[in-house]
Amino acid sequence: MPCGQKTESGFSAALRDGRHLRTCQYRDSANLNARAELHRRFSTAGTRWFTWVFDQIVSAPGRDVLELGCGPGGLWLENRERVPADWRVTLADFSAGMLDEARANLRSLDRDIAFAGADAQRLPFSDACFDAVVANHMLYHLEDVGQGLSEIRRVLRPGGLLFAATNGANHMRELGDWVRRFDPDTPVGSTAMVRPFDLATGLAQLAVHFDDVRLARYEDGLAVTEVDPLIDYVRSTPTGKQLDPATVDRCRASLEQMLSDEGVLRIHKETGMSAAVRKPGEESAG
Ligand SMILES: C[S@@+](CC[C@H](N)C(=O)[O-])C[C@H]1O[C@@H](n2cnc3c(N)ncnc32)[C@H](O)[C@@H]1O
Repeated sequence: MPCGQKTESGFSAALRDGRHLRTCQYRDSANLNARAELHRRFSTAGTRWFTWVFDQIVSAPGRDVLELGCGPGGLWLENRERVPADWRVTLADFSAGMLDEARANLRSLDRDIAFAGADAQRLPFSDACFDAVVANHMLYHLEDVGQGLSEIRRVLRPGGLLFAATNGANHMRELGDWVRRFDPDTPVGSTAMVRPFDLATGLAQLAVHFDDVRLARYEDGLAVTEVDPLIDYVRSTPTGKQLDPATVDRCRASLEQMLSDEGVLRIHKETGMSAAVRKPGEESAG
């Protein structure tokens, strides 16, 4: 499927079609960065997201840590001073472009980080070789989330931990509502993406392969005072790329008016991270 083209299979194809994600949406970090920039500039949280994520994982027992869907390596770059000296870190992503950027971004860390091209549903690692796996905003992209979770369980050692971050069904709902006024048929924003594994639906899926599933919520929101970063966010999403330019222009004009009337555009967020312990027993939970 070419980037940004509507297809018969509709929007879900772009959101969970591995080939499309790997070669278009996440060919490099440009789309991800446009979204991260909105959060970075207008977040109301007291703690930065990657700092908060690292707070959750830093005390994990063991040394062998895998991040799946690492993107350009932001988690490790932002926490470069905090990575325990004895950790052996492996970063995996199925996008060659993302891995290249992660390698370049983390070169200055002066650590022996391993990089692997890997689809989370078919991991190229032997059984029981990691103590912790981090999957930060990536499980909702899998065509078969259960298969991905089964693979994560397989590569974890007994007692190993999975840390899985995702969004809730109402995450950034306002943004989707604003765009829908101009194109009711195109769902935009994270609400279009999270259903396969969101804060609510993810817990039951985790419980198939993991025990002691605990969810920590990240309290945050956006107070946006510029329209361009919002439009950049919309146009970075698989569905937003399919909006026609006239629709984007009408949406931009409406947001400019709202901002001028209200002084700030408030967007509510639902984000968090589950920690879960690998179930004991057979190597494969099936
Ligand atoms: C939303 S980005 C998150 C990147 C990074 N974890 C972060 O938070 O900045 C999702 C990442 O998961 C990767 N990804 C998506 N599906 C994948 C799969 N099946 N196997 C491996 N990586 C995948 C994408 O290439 C992309 O880098």
